[in-house]
Amino acid sequence: MSQLYEEASAFIRLCYRELGKSEAEMEARLEAIHDEIRQHNHYEHTSEELEFGAKAAWRNSNRCIGRLYWNTLHVVDERAASTAPEVRDALLRHISYATNNGKIRPVISIFRPARAGEQQVRIWNYQLIRYAGYETEQGIVGDPHSVPFTNHCLRLGWKSEKKPFELLPFVIQIRDERPQIFDIPREYVLEVPLRHPDIPRIADLQLKWYAVPIVSNMRLEIGGIQYTAAPFNGWYMATEVGARNLADEARYNLLPTIARCMGLDTSKPAIYWKDRALVELNLAVALSYQEAGVRMVDHHMAAQQFKQFELQEQQAGRGVTGDWTWLIPPVSPATTHIFHSQYDNTWNTPNFFYQDDLKLEDD
Ligand code: ARG
Repeated sequence: MSQLYEEASAFIRLCYRELGKSEAEMEARLEAIHDEIRQHNHYEHTSEELEFGAKAAWRNSNRCIGRLYWNTLHVVDERAASTAPEVRDALLRHISYATNNGKIRPVISIFRPARAGEQQVRIWNYQLIRYAGYETEQGIVGDPHSVPFTNHCLRLGWKSEKKPFELLPFVIQIRDERPQIFDIPREYVLEVPLRHPDIPRIADLQLKWYAVPIVSNMRLEIGGIQYTAAPFNGWYMATEVGARNLADEARYNLLPTIARCMGLDTSKPAIYWKDRALVELNLAVALSYQEAGVRMVDHHMAAQQFKQFELQEQQAGRGVTGDWTWLIPPVSPATTHIFHSQYDNTWNTPNFFYQDDLKLEDD
């Protein structure tokens, strides 16, 4: 039998067992899928299968510390969207529903999967909400991570102002048509200005970050079906913003600036100025989100929740897989149990996988 059927069958067995369906129901479904694959080299998931598949993909995401909440994922079936404007509208609905005025809800919107190897929908953005980055005479403005993608947007005709926290447009592709760009109306995007209760000079820097991280470039694989457009979000862990996005040398590289705000001597590496700046920056992020009423978790709480997830999975008779190098937080890792544990990094499906970045003809 075909590889697609093999994968479909493994998924349907898992799904129907966990959803408590009867053996007869499962056999009937397998037979129907078998016929569908023979005729079309493709099969369609029911909404129930889609929902379970997306949740299981989160549960299997070895690099995610937030998996305790896998079963609360809100799954939106957007397979009816067939044009770029329809996809854009669905993405805006996703942003609104997920943002929920700061009481962030985990959401995934699932668009048409590839059919017999042919891609139907693709969103080229890394995240739906993300800041642009430019190489200028005075160095990089904005997020250095976005420089290649920003260049693509400019070549597709996007107009920009080259500011440090400028929202990138959606880049949506239908089948093999030319990708289309759409600006996100400002009112859809909740952002949090950063301040520190004891270091007023941090607010003077006019830093901010967006509320909801919505990863949009990964492929969701369920039962051999490839969903090439399936943007999903949870809420942020503070260190993602404070210890990586704003702190990495290859990102906003703000530790020297924060250290100056704190009046620290940065001339010698041995006096912990980076570490002190890092802690205060992370505190500024966490407190600013809290004050703005935007849901965020700190790494200690997240690690505890992950422990609960491990326990819960064990009780359900499943093993937890994980990627230690990603699960440990970038701030004070050894204060969490994760650092002192070992994880089996086997990738089970359903799961999320990387896919290629955008290439334009003149690349
Ligand atoms: N680390 C990425 C960022 O800083 C976001 C990845 C997803 N994170 C999440 N909490 N769901 O933007």
